[in-house]
Amino acid sequence: MTNKINDLLRRVEAFKPQAAAELEEFRIKILGKKGELTALMEEFKTVAPELKRELGQQLNRLKTTATERINALREELGNAAADRAARVEDMTRPGSAEPLGSRHPISLVRREIVEVFARLGYTVAEGPEIEDDWHVFSALNFPPEHPARDMQDTFFIEKDPDILLRTHTSSIQVRTMERQKPPIRVICPGRVFRNEAISSRAHCIFHQIEGLYIDEGVSFADLKQSLLYFAKEVFGGQTAIRMRPSYFPFTEPSAEVDVSCNLCGGKGCNVCKGTGWLEIMGCGMVDPNVLTANGIDPQKYSGFAFGMGIERIAMLKYGVKDLRLYFENDVRFLRQFDSAL
Ligand code: PHE
Repeated sequence: MTNKINDLLRRVEAFKPQAAAELEEFRIKILGKKGELTALMEEFKTVAPELKRELGQQLNRLKTTATERINALREELGNAAADRAARVEDMTRPGSAEPLGSRHPISLVRREIVEVFARLGYTVAEGPEIEDDWHVFSALNFPPEHPARDMQDTFFIEKDPDILLRTHTSSIQVRTMERQKPPIRVICPGRVFRNEAISSRAHCIFHQIEGLYIDEGVSFADLKQSLLYFAKEVFGGQTAIRMRPSYFPFTEPSAEVDVSCNLCGGKGCNVCKGTGWLEIMGCGMVDPNVLTANGIDPQKYSGFAFGMGIERIAMLKYGVKDLRLYFENDVRFLRQFDSAL
């Protein structure tokens, strides 16, 4: 009889049902009226009195073990079934929208500007933020003593040979001219670095987009029309532009570009300081020295270049008064640019 008890005990302990029905079947087979344990109890009645004590204890242990195990298994299976039931979705429920993040205003404006120039046939070019003197200055016709090379403006990483953080994305234009023969039509967005005190109007890190167009017979009129198209696309169809003579080492002639103030419509307000105009970028015809330095024949080719700060454009577009907001990433500021774009 001890053997039978032990055998049943082993089976009870090893039993692992997959479903509640299987467990119930097992329970009846063991504990039911005609079950194996019940049969053993019957058999117990007939054993010799001197064996009763020992066998009775074994039987009791078996009964407790079997009952506890079956209860525990029932609970386990019940939980699993409840889990499964909870996972069944109600397909008729209206969906709940996932909360969308927002794009950073600088990303929005960069994308918009890139798209405008893409429509004019420009492709995007990118380059390293850590540069050498050649790509940031020398190849762009900066004379050796030019103040922009000064420690005040440029963050140098190493001296002789100079390794520095690019101060403008014109370096990408140089890298493009190295790689590509004209016609060249690229737009170069990127982060730039200048050693300037941080204020509401200036930051030591900001973003630029510069453009370069080189082909045979490119004229100042092409430059003007391209920028007018850009201004109307970004600031609205009523926008006018004007150009003021300026100086950059890499362009000749050079100009600053203003757009008519979109807040007061040109009448004069505190944003345009009463002038009706807002300065948005620098531009000019690529200096022949730059073409030569980059292996392009200035007799055959001409081109124009322009460059603007993305923060500045975004400030004008969105009426942001303090440039530092772009860098603080305060969600109350960023949430205002929620968009599904
Ligand atoms: N690189 C100039 C700057 O950073 C902008 C510019 C680009 C001006 C191209 C003229 C032509 O200020």
